[in-house]
Amino acid sequence: KFEKVWLIFGVGTLLVFLTVLGVSAFYLGNQPPSCLATIDPEKVETQAPFNEPGLKKVEGKAWDYELVFVAQAFNYNPGDVEIPFGATVKIIATTKDVIHGFEVAGTNINMMLEPGYISEHITTFDKTGEYLILCNEYCGAGHHLMTSKIEVV
Ligand code: CUA
Repeated sequence: KFEKVWLIFGVGTLLVFLTVLGVSAFYLGNQPPSCLATIDPEKVETQAPFNEPGLKKVEGKAWDYELVFVAQAFNYNPGDVEIPFGATVKIIATTKDVIHGFEVAGTNINMMLEPGYISEHITTFDKTGEYLILCNEYCGAGHHLMTSKIEVV
């Protein structure tokens, strides 16, 4: 008669486990963290701010400039951009096709660009010079050629 107890215990444990799994997947897994804003990847170039990639001065915000990037296999738009030294810049980026990386060599900026999501990072470059932007997610045959450049002047 103890078998019945063990059977109930076993099934009960399984149910608790599945419930926890289901709840966590539903509540925690429905949005990748830090990519809360969404965009239709088919219409990236017609939607602000991605209709005007590049650097733009902004007023009344905690940052001085917004720097908008559109990624696609195998380049970034813009491919080369100048930023004034000391400026606080909000980088806003998305991808038109597949997952790309957005790593700025020599800094802590390292984002993943996912189709349908907008990635953002606020930063101030503490040194003048050239910063290489690299794609660090394998995205196809031209992956290793996919770069852009920030010049802090
Ligand atoms: Cu884009 Cu690798």
